[in-house]
Amino acid sequence: MTLDQLQTQFEAFKTKKLALDMSRGKPSAAQLDLSNELLDIVTSKDYLSSQGAETRNYGGLDGLPETKELFKNFLEVSSVEEVVVGGNASLTIMHDIISRGITHGMCDSELAWGKQTIKFICPVPGYDRHFSICQHFGIEMIPVACNENGPDMDQVEQLVANDASIKGIWIVPKYSNPTGLSCSDEVVDRLSSMKTAANDFRIFWDNAYAVHHLSEDKDVLKNILTSCKAAGNDNRPFILCSTSKITFAGAGVSAVGGSVANMDWYRGHLFFSTIGPDKLNQVRHNRFFKNIEGLHKHMEKHAALLKPRFEKTLSILETELGGTGLATWTKPNGGYFISLDVPNGCAKRVVALAGEAGVKLTGAGATYPDKKDPNDSNIRLAPSCPTVNEIEQAMQIVCLATKIAAVEVDIVKDSVLS
Ligand SMILES: Cc1ncc(COP(=O)(O)O)c(C=O)c1O
Repeated sequence: MTLDQLQTQFEAFKTKKLALDMSRGKPSAAQLDLSNELLDIVTSKDYLSSQGAETRNYGGLDGLPETKELFKNFLEVSSVEEVVVGGNASLTIMHDIISRGITHGMCDSELAWGKQTIKFICPVPGYDRHFSICQHFGIEMIPVACNENGPDMDQVEQLVANDASIKGIWIVPKYSNPTGLSCSDEVVDRLSSMKTAANDFRIFWDNAYAVHHLSEDKDVLKNILTSCKAAGNDNRPFILCSTSKITFAGAGVSAVGGSVANMDWYRGHLFFSTIGPDKLNQVRHNRFFKNIEGLHKHMEKHAALLKPRFEKTLSILETELGGTGLATWTKPNGGYFISLDVPNGCAKRVVALAGEAGVKLTGAGATYPDKKDPNDSNIRLAPSCPTVNEIEQAMQIVCLATKIAAVEVDIVKDSVLS
């Protein structure tokens, strides 16, 4: 097919004046509906906790006992002392921990992070909001490439062993944003036991997609806290999670887990910023799930909605780009994203072309620190919100845009494309 023919196809799509969006990892309306019972579950007649605690007043700094128990099981930590239940967003907890590290230092810091130059390792491609937190606080970001098992550990080990200013690493360990891939046991063990020049090094273990399987084919993640404790690095991980993509995004419940020393440090700081969290929302969530098994059951309903969307995205990629050598993409067992790599130098062009034809994609570069993908090749696809029909059209356009961009920069001769 010639470039002219590809462009004719593209113009035909443009005349349809589509408005499709595969840019944000948001739950669809149908997914939100799955949790509507939350809106009726606490009433004016029935708002006490299961143990009869008042939920309308101040107090309960680190969460209701029943909610801590639920998140203890979710985070897979060994006691409720290793849990702090937060507000509506795990991102707030991550931001707050780093902010307090900067002003006061961690529980085992000799010096507040703000009194020194500090750096974080940022596995790439990664989650833009993690990078934005670093940027916001002036933390230098060191990108490290990921493979299908997680970050390149040879590089990570070498960096942290030799530079005491490296204080942290971001990890989305399961069904990562954007690759959808999970850390192998070996990566978990190496992260837990590696020697760090900084004695107050932290892993921000953002397990946002811990229970977000697409099918029975589930990734299993090794327990980071157990592994760190076994290596004598009890204070290394902060484990984050929330129900944003389980119940309501922006109106769920978040939590952090870690060693008692870390949690006591965090509780100590929380004392100054709140007199207590929203316990009514905690009661809602406890009643809705009942227990961790209830939460897992609920996730099966999400999977039923998400799986066909992922399947459609992958099948169009395979039909249109499979065998062309123009692109590679991940095939996740869970999460919210597929990571697409187009030829070097083409991602921005593909996103721009898709935009011209009415398909909104995450900005090229967003998956890298400072929004700069050195290869200009990575594109994050978010199939959760559009319908399967919309995904079919959107992905036809993304694939066509990839072919056009590749021909434009002479990666392939147009004659070899069908
Ligand atoms: C990896 C990751 N962490 C955190 C979040 C945000 O979570 P929350 O709503 O709990 O702040 C997202 C949302 O897209 C995410 O992808």
